[in-house]
Amino acid sequence: MSAVYRNAAPPAIPWFKEGFFDFWSTRVNSLWTLRRPLVRLVGRTSASADAVTLQLQPNRHVGGLLPGQHVNLGVELDGRVTTRSYSPTVLDNGHLAITVKAIPGGKVSQHLARTAAIGDVFSVGPGFGDMTVALSPQRLVLLAGGSGITPMRSLLRQLDKQPLQAPVDLVYWARRQEELCFVDELQAMAARQPGFKLHTALTRDAATPAPRVDSFDFSGFDRLAGARVLACGPAGFVDAAKARLGAHVASFEGEAFSVPVLPELEQGSVQVELLRSGRSLSIARGTSLLTALEAAGIQPASGCRMGLCNTCVCTKVSGITRHTLTGDHASEPSIPLKLCVNSASTDLTLEL
Ligand SMILES: Cc1cc2nc3c(=O)[nH]c(=O)nc-3n(C[C@H](O)[C@H](O)[C@H](O)COP(=O)(O)OP(=O)(O)OC[C@H]3O[C@@H](n4cnc5c(N)ncnc54)[C@H](O)[C@@H]3O)c2cc1C
Ligand code: FES
Repeated sequence: MSAVYRNAAPPAIPWFKEGFFDFWSTRVNSLWTLRRPLVRLVGRTSASADAVTLQLQPNRHVGGLLPGQHVNLGVELDGRVTTRSYSPTVLDNGHLAITVKAIPGGKVSQHLARTAAIGDVFSVGPGFGDMTVALSPQRLVLLAGGSGITPMRSLLRQLDKQPLQAPVDLVYWARRQEELCFVDELQAMAARQPGFKLHTALTRDAATPAPRVDSFDFSGFDRLAGARVLACGPAGFVDAAKARLGAHVASFEGEAFSVPVLPELEQGSVQVELLRSGRSLSIARGTSLLTALEAAGIQPASGCRMGLCNTCVCTKVSGITRHTLTGDHASEPSIPLKLCVNSASTDLTLEL
């Protein structure tokens, strides 16, 4: 009789057993979990006048992160986990470094930059984002506005592992000299790699304020027309960079760190039925569904709040939504919907 061999499927773990295991194992070591990815704060250094770099030790479930990508970090504040996106650099010792700019009035950035303590543990999601680079020769122009430098630093450390095969320019805008991060590291790379040029643009420099991206002079840049341009920073910065260069280069990709201020085109309120929770509520039409649901006391899963990470996706069963970044309407039933970048145009039914 011949034996039939099958690959054993991993045993299903009831959630209460996993919760039970994690509860006791994290009392022995705060990073020991059955499968939840966690990081522990093990070091902090000042990165600039208003930013700190946190060194995070990952547990063995953290992985799948490419240079230039971002992760969602879950931070417990007032008994509730609040999630924001950050762009880590993987250090030589396997730890993650995130550099956090303290935003005035910012809930998570103020906590991370000012009050988080060594030993604190945060949840962390998988890497996401498309601004990654191959090591094959490609002409790159990197544009960073403020904290948009963080994924660029990670990309540059990757490129710096071997002699550059094609020119790379980084233009880094900040208001003042003391707000610049990683200057020594970037200057050292420029000294080591003849193909790398660092341009800093200080828009509020007392002596010679630099032009913003919309009027920056790129005419001296080598082979600009054949360049792949990557831009990262506040939404207004990325939009201005695209308007300035998008039509003049081989390709333009931008990722915004902050939500653009939207004109409230649609007003009044609509009724939203939430099938899973059995709730029905009235929400404002003009604002993103994520913000509107949060204002109504619902806490849908979320991460980047920018339409990048897919954490907030749920099924729209019926109704018409408006994409808050493109203005496009979607009326098809039973389609996936990102709550953070869609608002309700009509009454909606959501699988939530
Ligand atoms: C893909 C992605 C990657 C990111 N990577 C980094 C990173 O590496 N380092 C980093 O410091 N930040 C990064 N951010 C921004 C970060 O996720 C948070 O938005 C930021 O830390 C502010 O969160 P908060 O809770 O302190 O502010 P909130 O309490 O959410 O907001 C407070 C106020 O600040 C405004 N605001 C929010 N974010 C910004 C911003 N970035 N610039 C200016 N105003 C803002 C809000 O509109 C609001 O008015 C990234 C964002 C995205 C989408
Ligand atoms: S929260 Fe990231 S896509 Fe909506």
